[in-house]
Amino acid sequence: MTDPVPQGLSPMLQRPLAIGCRTIPGRLVLAPMTLLGHVAFRQLLDELGGCALMFSEMCSAARIPTENRHTSYYFRWRDQEAGRLSIQILGSEGTRMAAAARRIEAEGFFGVDINLGCAVKEICKFNQGAALLKAPAEAAALVAQVRQAVQCPVTVKFRTGWQDDPRIPVDLARRLEDAGADALTFHPRVAPDVRTRPARWEYIARVKEAVSIPVFGNGDVFDAADCLKMLTTTGCDGVALGRLGIARPWSFAHWAGGAPPGASIYKDSALRLTVLLEQHFEPTKALRRFKRYAAYLAANFAFGNTLYNHIRNAPEMAAARQAVTNFFLNEPPERQRPNLNLLR
Ligand SMILES: Cc1cc2nc3c(=O)[nH]c(=O)nc-3n(C[C@H](O)[C@H](O)[C@H](O)COP(=O)(O)O)c2cc1C
Repeated sequence: MTDPVPQGLSPMLQRPLAIGCRTIPGRLVLAPMTLLGHVAFRQLLDELGGCALMFSEMCSAARIPTENRHTSYYFRWRDQEAGRLSIQILGSEGTRMAAAARRIEAEGFFGVDINLGCAVKEICKFNQGAALLKAPAEAAALVAQVRQAVQCPVTVKFRTGWQDDPRIPVDLARRLEDAGADALTFHPRVAPDVRTRPARWEYIARVKEAVSIPVFGNGDVFDAADCLKMLTTTGCDGVALGRLGIARPWSFAHWAGGAPPGASIYKDSALRLTVLLEQHFEPTKALRRFKRYAAYLAANFAFGNTLYNHIRNAPEMAAARQAVTNFFLNEPPERQRPNLNLLR
């Protein structure tokens, strides 16, 4: 296992952080990741040492009030994780978002996170996600309405906006703070950019300076050295790990001072995830999610494409498991940093 932890990073990550009326035990959190940050993955993450706070996959606010946690694919959780899990909601109507927030609070989750970053066309069409960045006053009003509905932490995840200008996220961050947000996660990319250009970390520093609530920096942290650099160069209060957190879920605990993982960590965690997926989801849903994860697993290896293709073509979980076992028979060479082409 490469990825040495630079001196000074672990103590920084071990500092507790107050978010509204609650405190989290550290500074490294799991970013929301659709079809990746599900209940099975979060259980794996917990077994590998966990992290300070987890954000769920985005969930439609309109559906949450009546959603059945045992049949829903997104709004599904283990009781023991609720206090460390914030549910991300997506919507455009304040009353519906407030109703969703009330259910989230009643279920005992850590808090509610509002999605102002998803730039997928089908979502923006309904004036949700990143579409709301075009109407900052409207976005802030939604946050205010959610704020009034609950006592638990209300956080917002947003990106730069639709133009590459740091004044836009700075203005929005101030509005979100005034609307009552308890913390922000900021991904410094413009909305149509699907991670083809590097995230502009200098904008994180600008946003952090503009508000007094905690700011989690997000975007392009691919190893422990990146994490330290983001913290020290931007002054952000914490880091939200997305793709790397999926590719190497033990990194949260390792960077925060835990023991380095053993040589079989990739194989063991991939195989464990197949089991957890089968426990939490029906076979087709479980396999679909494992295939998504496989791209992130494969990104860690020089010949990861072979592994990815075998898993992608697997007709059932047993074949996917066999592909994992076969790949690791030959001790595949690990990449120091994951292959970004597989992580788009
Ligand atoms: C497959 C995938 C799914 C994502 N799903 C969500 C989501 O549901 N909600 C959200 O706010 N961001 C979502 N994101 C964005 C990530 O949370 C994060 O902002 C982005 O990946 C940049 O961080 P990273 O470089 O650490 O991966 C998603 C990103 C990817 C790649």
